[in-house]
Amino acid sequence: MKNLAHELKPLFVEAVAKAFPELSEAELVEIISVEEPREAGHGDFACPVAFRLAKMLGKNPVEIGNAIVENFPEDYRIGDVEFLLPGFVNVRVKVSYLEEVLKQLETGFSYEGGPARKRPVIVEYPSTNAAKQMGVHHIITTFLGDALANLFDFMGYEVMRINHLGDWGTHFGKLIYAIETWGDKAVIHADPNMEFNKLYVKFNDEAEKNPELLDEARAIFKSLEEGDELRLAMWNWIVKESTEDLEKLLARLGVEVDMHMGESFYLKMMEPIVEEGIKRGLFVEGEGGSLIYDMGEDQTPALIKKSDGTTLYLTRDIATIKYRVETWNPATILYVVDHAQSLHFKQNFEIARALGTADDTDLEHVAFGRMRFADGSMSTRKGTDIKLPVLLNEAAKRAAALAAERGTELPREEFAAMAELIGKSSVKYGVLNQDRVKDIIFEWEKVITLEGNSAPYLLYSYARAHNIVVKAGDVPLSGLPKLTEEAEIELVRHMLKFPNALERAVNERKPHMVSFYLYELCQEFNRFYGKVRVMEAEEDAKRSRLMLVHAFMHQLKAGLSILGIPVVERM
Ligand code: ARG
Repeated sequence: MKNLAHELKPLFVEAVAKAFPELSEAELVEIISVEEPREAGHGDFACPVAFRLAKMLGKNPVEIGNAIVENFPEDYRIGDVEFLLPGFVNVRVKVSYLEEVLKQLETGFSYEGGPARKRPVIVEYPSTNAAKQMGVHHIITTFLGDALANLFDFMGYEVMRINHLGDWGTHFGKLIYAIETWGDKAVIHADPNMEFNKLYVKFNDEAEKNPELLDEARAIFKSLEEGDELRLAMWNWIVKESTEDLEKLLARLGVEVDMHMGESFYLKMMEPIVEEGIKRGLFVEGEGGSLIYDMGEDQTPALIKKSDGTTLYLTRDIATIKYRVETWNPATILYVVDHAQSLHFKQNFEIARALGTADDTDLEHVAFGRMRFADGSMSTRKGTDIKLPVLLNEAAKRAAALAAERGTELPREEFAAMAELIGKSSVKYGVLNQDRVKDIIFEWEKVITLEGNSAPYLLYSYARAHNIVVKAGDVPLSGLPKLTEEAEIELVRHMLKFPNALERAVNERKPHMVSFYLYELCQEFNRFYGKVRVMEAEEDAKRSRLMLVHAFMHQLKAGLSILGIPVVERM
């Protein structure tokens, strides 16, 4: 299905060109845009004419609007055309066209209009740190990154999902000391990231009493950097255990990445690029013999090398960009990372531009706000280290409680698995239905509930539709549907706008726009379900309505799959 907003644009261009021959068509193609009206009841698509056109023509918007309406070409898709203040020409799609659209949607939903030239889009997530449990910001990265990658994929882009694993840094010195001193490999193997975390905390506690341990840890990390084989073997083992553990967690979430590429992968690539920067006078000596990149007046300089000569997180990122561009020539690299790293990415991108390592690749920090727990129920002492497995277990428990309270049609043996599925889908959706640039507020009452913009509400709507299809049995859905009831028509009107919602979501890197579309879709469907009989209708109406139910299911399923949420047929 194509985005009708784009398809209708030539009609507006034609109308304006006819009404005002003094404007060239080429010019009009530039300035005319077709969008969804901001207010309900204002037609299906709207073209803002008042602002640019009124200025260019020196006429008032009413005059311009009326002239466009008068000159609007006849079209098989468009019914009413009207001008509305403050300056929009709005059009309404004909019911006969909606019937054609429904005929097409009944067989499935796919998006038409993807990019012509295929260069990969790299979406980087979850980029957790080896030997640590996911932090809250990693949870958001995981859901958001996966949804964005799915969205690009759905829309016809070639996507690469890369986990930029934090597998290098001084903390490995501490961890290796802790393992060598207090660790038990078998215990670690049973629950790696949890145990690594504990050992790490133990190290810090002990080091508070005995600061000499810090020197020991530093020495260990130094031996790693110098290539000590025994230490490297230990480091390898840690990364392997930790990555396998992460993979299990990702599998539980139904999230996949194409490759794990640790920061350590880029270690050898740093020196040449640092040299290059020095040669070109971009990297210069900073305080205490460090190496810096000057970000300009009033800006913190970017640190390339510490005074002891060791490289940093940023240095590895600079090398990463060069490697990715040379290896895959991506059109775009999206870094789905917490707001807190804005400065880091600003420096990273500016340095890449200065070095010329990403001249033809867009680098974008897809930042997001903090996750806050509205009721404080899950926050720990510091309020920051919520463990994802704990969150998922809690969600499953609450989903089971909701099902028990509302009743379920499921047999006993399926109940637990369903609670797990609904629980984790709800947590995911509870993050993905919010605008990422704001703080993400997590409230159990809004996440696990059958009302409102929640996963259970959407999934229940799907199950409801599925139920109708099962009851209807084998009804042949041939011929054009006939739409007569208001609720039917409005449902298809909404479906018409899915491609536009997807485009907005992908352009703004905001999956919550998909969620919001789906929520409204389900509301329209439930209105239809409440008002219109399907099974008891006479044959023609029943056939049309079943087509509607199928079309609804296709869209909902496609949209949820973008969010990484599988549908269920019964709840
Ligand atoms: N591992 C880092 C962290 O947990 C995030 C990495 C983000 N990606 C990057 N290319 N720097 O904070």
